[in-house]
Amino acid sequence: MIKGILENYRKLVDNRINELFPESDVKYNEVIKAVRYSLLSGGKRIRPAIMMEFSKLCGGKPEDALDFAVALEMIHTYSLIHDDLPCMDNDDMRRGKPSCHKAFGEDIALLAGDTLLTEAFFVASNAAVPQDRALKAVAFLSSNAGLHGMIGGQVLDLSFEKSAPDAAALQDMYMRKTGALLIAAASIGCIAAGKGNEENLRSAAKYGYHLGLAFQVIDDILDVTADEKLLGKPVGSDDKNNKTTFVTLYGIDKAYAIAAQLTNMALDALDEFDGDTTVLYEITNYLLDRNN
Ligand code: IPE
Ligand code: IPE
Ligand code: MG
Ligand code: MG
Ligand code: MG
Repeated sequence: MIKGILENYRKLVDNRINELFPESDVKYNEVIKAVRYSLLSGGKRIRPAIMMEFSKLCGGKPEDALDFAVALEMIHTYSLIHDDLPCMDNDDMRRGKPSCHKAFGEDIALLAGDTLLTEAFFVASNAAVPQDRALKAVAFLSSNAGLHGMIGGQVLDLSFEKSAPDAAALQDMYMRKTGALLIAAASIGCIAAGKGNEENLRSAAKYGYHLGLAFQVIDDILDVTADEKLLGKPVGSDDKNNKTTFVTLYGIDKAYAIAAQLTNMALDALDEFDGDTTVLYEITNYLLDRNN
């Protein structure tokens, strides 16, 4: 059931991306090719699925959140393109294919990331919802992707290659580099449905925060245990880059137990909503035991 639901969301997202970024013969289309290469190469689309499910949970339609979901997936994809660059994690594979910089060169990969980040705000600000919702969604997108969110987390991640963090510092870094975009996914789903009141946003943030931590802990485990073909990105990247992770701090079994506990805390946050949380429960549990 869960695979089918995620597949439907993937199709919605991919169709919209194709509408927004068709192939083109403009003279600078090298960057359009790179954007399409990275964006349409089969990510799990977890953030869009969560956002559209939160829109449903708050009484809206999934489509109310579609353009925000595409915008968030664009920002996420830009973060991956830059994360793989030689000056960052220096990884040659992403989503089962050569990384953007391997396929297009570092210069175009950098600009493809810039394009995705910039155009994401065009897409979000033109979403077909009342303007006050679009404005609030854009604010959530920028604050969670920005300085104190994903970017701050990536900066800390790099600094921890040189001086190892303790558990609290590592958790703070994960909350930013991975949690922030999941907090945005859940929160903007509520906003798109017109239910972005304080109470809902608090519960959405609580969900995104705990799921984000669990998600990154499992990512750490997969970096050690996964089948590279299924994972679609290099195994052993963290070790290569001297990263402190939940696996290096606690070992695989304890790290998994922590992720399971965090997953339960995310599920508790879902219980704070009145609507039907069946699908979000399934997505959340599926992410704990994913193999990619
Ligand atoms: C990878 O995110 C980066 C992390 C935050 C761990 P995903 O695992 O969602 O990557 P895709 O989108 O499916 O490729
Ligand atoms: C990256 O964390 C999170 C981002 C903000 C891109 P990782 O560096 O562990 O992600 P992967 O494993 O390369 O996908
Ligand atoms: Mg990284
Ligand atoms: Mg990486
Ligand atoms: Mg990783």
